[in-house]
Amino acid sequence: MLYSLQSKLLDWFEKNKRSLPWRKTTDPYKIWISEVMLQQTTSKAVVPYYNRFLKHFPDLKSLSKAKTEQVFSLWSGLGYYNRAKNLIKSSRIIYKQKFFPKTYKELLKFPGFGAYIARAVSSIAFEEPVGVLDGNVIRFLSRFYGLKIKHWQSKEKAELQKISDSWVQNQKSSKMNQALMEIGALICVKQKPLCLLCPVRVNCQAYKKGLQEKLPLKKEKKSTEFWHYYPEKIKRQHKWAFVKNTKMPFLKGHLLFPGLSKKLKHKATNYDFDHSIMNYKIFITIKTKRKHSLSLFKWYSSSEIKKLNPSSLIQKVLKF
Ligand code: ADE
Repeated sequence: MLYSLQSKLLDWFEKNKRSLPWRKTTDPYKIWISEVMLQQTTSKAVVPYYNRFLKHFPDLKSLSKAKTEQVFSLWSGLGYYNRAKNLIKSSRIIYKQKFFPKTYKELLKFPGFGAYIARAVSSIAFEEPVGVLDGNVIRFLSRFYGLKIKHWQSKEKAELQKISDSWVQNQKSSKMNQALMEIGALICVKQKPLCLLCPVRVNCQAYKKGLQEKLPLKKEKKSTEFWHYYPEKIKRQHKWAFVKNTKMPFLKGHLLFPGLSKKLKHKATNYDFDHSIMNYKIFITIKTKRKHSLSLFKWYSSSEIKKLNPSSLIQKVLKF
């Protein structure tokens, strides 16, 4: 039964797959870069980033020798800069050991390799028979089996992982995983799925019961947290003062303008401008300078800080 479903999905994939640059290679380095980028946005949006990145860093060696700022500037617009940092860290370790690990269990040991990336790379580059779970696959499998489960919780996620693993057995896992992701991206979409074009609809529980829009279950969104931040623009000899942010929960560990901040119970009413990062809504009031011991700060020009912390929050403060 599963074998015939797999075959139907693979046939559909071969006829309908998008031509994407990372589908034309088996180089684990290139597949790794593509999958990290694809974690954060759609294939269409990733293509120009992927091409530009590989032009500058065509292989492990070049990335392992890269400066963080260079990588950040190619990453600017994708967000999640920790992922870019982890790419560099892992490239250095992998380059040094002279071989690219081939199993997801080995890959999990490297910075930035979570369950998804480790499985995507080992299955697509090395045909390890392990299934992936991303948003598209979760949606497809939940609907296909009519699963009303809290897939964000570990026990339920493990259940889905087993199902995803079962789909890649006895087939090329590189193709099968990408077929599962592709059907989620093109047919089994969030709203108004195109069931009539789906090659496995007759076996789909959600289709039979009209539950497509109800599945998968949705995790309640994190509630918005309001913060007021009072950055100070202190300039000496064309350089601005910055400190590492240790207090605010967004951009933690990143360089920001020095300044007080506080968590609010409600939206602020008086502020210069606002900025949103994940579930944080930040109200910003530029502060006139307090007395400081200047030795506490790190000093960077506008272009230097853009490379070190490309967050648009910095750019907004600079422009104000
Ligand atoms: N989403 C993330 N990786 C993908 C891939 N390799 N193919 C299709 N969709 C994806």
